[in-house]
Formats: sequence, C-alpha cells, structure tokens
Amino acid sequence: MESVKLTIDGREVTTIKGKTVIQAAAESAIAIPHYCYHPKLAIAGNCRMCLVEIEKMPRLQIACNTPVIEGMAVKTQSPKVLEARRAVMEFLLINHPLDCPICDQAGECRLQDYYMEHDLKTSRFEERKEHDRKREIFGPYVVFDGERCIKCTRCVRFLQEVTHTEELTVVNRGDHSTIALFPDRILDNALSVNVVDICPVGALTDRDFRFKVRAWYLKNTPSVCPGCSTGCNITVGSYQNLIARFKPRINEEVNSHWICDEGRYCFHPLTEVERLTSPLVRHEGGLVPTDWETALQAALSGLRAALPLAGVLSGRNTNEEAFLFARLMKKISPAAAVEVFYQERELTEVEKILKSPDRAPNFRGAREMGVSSDGGFAPLLRQLVEGKFRGAYIVGEDLVSLPKGEKIRGALEKLSFLVVQDTHLTSTARLAHVVLPATNFAEKEGTYTNRKGRVQKLNAALVPPAGALQDWEIFARLQGKAGDKVSYLTPGQIFQAISNEVPRYRGLTYLRIGDLGVQPGEER
Ligand code: SF4
Ligand code: SF4
Ligand code: FES
Repeated sequence: MESVKLTIDGREVTTIKGKTVIQAAAESAIAIPHYCYHPKLAIAGNCRMCLVEIEKMPRLQIACNTPVIEGMAVKTQSPKVLEARRAVMEFLLINHPLDCPICDQAGECRLQDYYMEHDLKTSRFEERKEHDRKREIFGPYVVFDGERCIKCTRCVRFLQEVTHTEELTVVNRGDHSTIALFPDRILDNALSVNVVDICPVGALTDRDFRFKVRAWYLKNTPSVCPGCSTGCNITVGSYQNLIARFKPRINEEVNSHWICDEGRYCFHPLTEVERLTSPLVRHEGGLVPTDWETALQAALSGLRAALPLAGVLSGRNTNEEAFLFARLMKKISPAAAVEVFYQERELTEVEKILKSPDRAPNFRGAREMGVSSDGGFAPLLRQLVEGKFRGAYIVGEDLVSLPKGEKIRGALEKLSFLVVQDTHLTSTARLAHVVLPATNFAEKEGTYTNRKGRVQKLNAALVPPAGALQDWEIFARLQGKAGDKVSYLTPGQIFQAISNEVPRYRGLTYLRIGDLGVQPGEER
C-alpha cells in the first residue's frame, strides 16, 4: 500500500493513500469535530462541522471527504477554521429547542460539547423557531425528537448500509427537512437501537434507558455481552448497584461498533429477579435456609451417594468457573457426565449480521476447560430425561423452563439427589435437595471464549448480594472438602492455572487479554 506524508497542525503524519484527512488525523489522535461522518458509514458530507484549512486551497474543505495528498499541509485550529465552526454551530442551533435539562443525551451530546468548545455565544436568533414532532415512537425501543435532529443522516445510512432494512428516510426541504419512517413501517429490526448510539445528538433516544439516570452518574465497566457466543464488547453502565444500560464498545475483531437489541437488553431477566441470599437444604419436604458449611457438606455427601452423576454448567459461567467445575465433578465421580448448556435457534438475515444461534456466551470456553462429554448437551439431557442418572448438579440454568420442561421436571423429581446453584429460586431450584446462591455475569470477574475462540475479559460491575458466593468460590470450597488441595484466592489465580494446564491458553494472562481480548496463537 502506498504511503502518504502530510502535516496536520504542523505535525508530520504518515498514512496510506486513499484515506481522508479526518481519518489521517484520527490515526494520529488529532480530533476534528464532526457530526455526519462515521467510520463505518458512507460519507455524507452534510454537517460541515469538520471544515479545515488546507494550504494552497482558497476555501475551507471538509476533512471527512478530502483525500490526503503527499505534502498536504492541514490546519485544524486556525482562526478561519474556528470561526467557520462557530458559524456552523450557530446555524445548527437555530431551531434547536435547547431542552438539555430534560434531554437524555445531555452529558453525551456533541451539540453541547462542540458548543462549549467553539461557540459559547448567546443566540442572535430572534425569529420564531421551526417546530417539529416531539416524542414520536419510531419502534419498540427508539423514540424520535424532531426538534433536536441535525439531519446528519447517520441513522438513515445505518439502516441502508448495515441492516439493509431502510425504515427511515429524509423528507421535506429546507427548514422543514426531517427524518421520518416510511409509510406503514416501524423501526423494529434486530439491530435497531444502534441508531441511538450513533445519533450524535438527543434526537434518537433509547426508550428503555431514558430518564433512568443521568449519564454522568453512571459507573462504566468494560465487559462482554452474555447474550450469545459472538461475545460483543460492551460497556456496562450501572448506578446504585443496578445495571442501567449496555452500550457497544468498539472491537473491530468482534462486533465493530454494534450490538444487537436482544443482547442490549438481556440483563433485565438476569439481574432483575429476587435474589437468593442464603443456601437452602431440603428438610421435611421443604427448602429451609442454612449456613454455607452445612449446605456444602450436604451437597458433597449427597452427590457422592447418588452415582451415576450428571453435571450441567451454564453457558454464562466463565472459563475460570468451568475449569473448577470440571475438576470438581471428576473428583466426586470420575465417571460423571458433564456438559455445558447449549441450544440453537433460527436466526433472521438481520440477526445473522451479528448474533450467534445460541444463548451460551462461553460454551466453547467451558468445553475447552473440560466441561464436555461425548456428544454434547442434547444427548446428556436426553439421558437425564430417560433416568440414566441418580444424581445431578445443575448450575445457572432453569432446565424445567425449557420447551420440554415437564418431562425434565419428572426426571429431576425422580433423582435421589439434586444440587442447584443459581442466583434465584428457579423452577429447577425448587426441586433441589440443596440450593446454593451464586452470582450473575455482571458481578463476576473472569473470561469468556467466544464462538471463534477469542478469549475476552469480564469485569465485575456490581457487588453481589450478601449471602451469595461467587460460583468459582463454591466450586473451590467443594473441591477442598472433597480432598483436593486448592488455594485460589481470585479468578486471576485460576486463570493462571488454566494457562499452565490448557494448551490453547498457554502463556495468556489477564494483562495480555486486556480490554479487547486475544485470539490465542495470534497475540503478539
Ligand atoms: Fe442524525 Fe440523529 Fe437526526 Fe438521525 S435522528 S439524522 S442520527 S441527528
Ligand atoms: Fe450480545 Fe450476541 Fe447480541 Fe452480541 S450478538 S450483543 S453477544 S446477544
Ligand atoms: Fe464532515 Fe459532516 S463530518 S461534513
């Protein structure tokens, strides 16, 4: 590829032929303000916010649509540029309602940010503002405020170029120009809420998140979506120990800039349930609270006496947990059949852009840690229903709520001993002899391995309820009681053992995995 040298604000910058000035600047961490430009969408060049001065060119040029040329000298901060940006801001704000105090984008709005950087003037506009539609419901998750829209067309281009569903378009001319749904359409595709993320102002907002919490109060934790085995990178926004939203985190190796709607909201059923805060043991037909020591001892003795044994781990459990679970089950019974929960569903064409057919984000990692038997999860479930086992240890999955749940219930009721480890009292947990309260994906640190084998890091965004234990800690304590020498104090120490013992993970550490994950064998 041919390289090109230019200067931006006096700094020498090298890039490759075909790049635009805004891309060359971004590569060198020089920010050029912009609204309509988005690195994953076609160039529209309509907002004029990215104007820059280029030596030997008489007029200012838009950086988003000007290709770099050898020897080009670009100024992004000259008085002429700053004055032009100020004028663009003034123009964009003419009809803006200035309702920042009640706008959900406040704190994350490019109009606010660039106004503070470039304008800071009171309005000279004395005429009546043009009004547009307020609070128009575009779809199940997206609401539109026409008065805040700057007509950058990012949303329209996303629906044309990424999802190819084309629900939105630009209608009318001049001051009356606005964004609208095509007749008889609603904005309801599997990736629809990404338009909220790319809208640079508060025109498109998320109906699920809006008015929940101001953006500046959020604690933002980098993590991985637990919705499926694509393993999209996300930021978990939490407030007062509750998840407020998921936002996509850019990772070109996995999800680019996007996440799907199902993944975006998958935290609701997982985190908004009444939590178990004490272990339970079956006593005179009912489940009664007990202490951890009693519950763990009862679980171990019961499982040991109920062979042959089946172990089912959730696809949401981490590699660290899977590593310990596989070893614990083999310690209790070397013949134990262990599998990670896995089921597939049909995906639509739009879903296939990002989603995997399962809801088991770490099924591959769990198998690599040793949670696997011949044939996979379906044969193990079939054997369970056929009564091939006398004991079972089920972690994090409500098998009774599956489509063939009644048959599974019947089989579980016949077991001589059942241990269920979960965050809440599921229909499956109600059948157990011992129930162990555990943590959800947002409360744990660890790693997931996605469908393609990329190892990525989960970080704890929330504090678990008192009385629950981390899944890895439950397994480690049971292993200790079963006679193994275990001395893990953190998931990081378990990962160290994984990197020593599991060949594909050799040499990996949390530090090397970082925020964007690694593909073992390809990392530098
Ligand atoms: Fe741009 Fe947002 Fe308006 Fe769409 S709704 S054109 S993304 S400002
Ligand atoms: Fe989550 Fe899968 Fe959707 Fe990505 S594609 S956001 S991992 S559910
Ligand atoms: Fe260049 Fe909008 S970002 S014209």
